[in-house]
Amino acid sequence: MSYTSVLDRDIDHILISQAEIESLTDRIAAEISADYKDSKRLLLLGILKGSVVFMGDLMKKITIPVEIDFMKVSSYSGTVSTGRINILLDLHRKDLSECDIVIVEDIIDSGRTLSYLVDYIKLGGAHSVRTCTLLDKPSRRTVDFVPDYKGTEIPDEFVVGYGLDYLEQYRALPYIGVLKPEIYKK
Ligand code: IMP
Ligand code: MG
Repeated sequence: MSYTSVLDRDIDHILISQAEIESLTDRIAAEISADYKDSKRLLLLGILKGSVVFMGDLMKKITIPVEIDFMKVSSYSGTVSTGRINILLDLHRKDLSECDIVIVEDIIDSGRTLSYLVDYIKLGGAHSVRTCTLLDKPSRRTVDFVPDYKGTEIPDEFVVGYGLDYLEQYRALPYIGVLKPEIYKK
């Protein structure tokens, strides 16, 4: 079943199709399932809100016991990163020292959000911490950061869909697309 949205008309072109996303999530889930087969407690830690769609697909494809939790951070305003990370929803778990955490992100841009969060979760005493992102824009890094699990690299373009937003819209589109330039001028 494929759905069409009234928001499709704002998309200039599709960068990653639903079928491509499907095969990227299949591969990442298989990698995580193999790497953590002996883990006592695997916890996917989704970063709200961008990761929710990816997280939902990923967790269904993981073949070992897995728990989920969420944190909410903000660093973006429109299409511009402010450079400051604010924790809007924190992780409160008494069993953090038993948890092998995989932080799940939609996209890595400057790298600041994930490098900050890895240090933060390590300081919290997690058993181990790794990172997973569906998309990576390596050309945009301002801090050195390499994710452990990655769907695919994309060029330096602002993308929406599959959880990613522009001013809170377009998250529900089932593919990753680039907006028409006139949308930013409204
Ligand atoms: P970083 O801290 O600069 O790596 O920013 C990562 C966060 O910026 C992601 O979790 C997204 O919320 C947001 N972001 C970066 N690039 C894009 C994009 O192209 N579309 C939508 N959100 C983006
Ligand atoms: Mg995000």
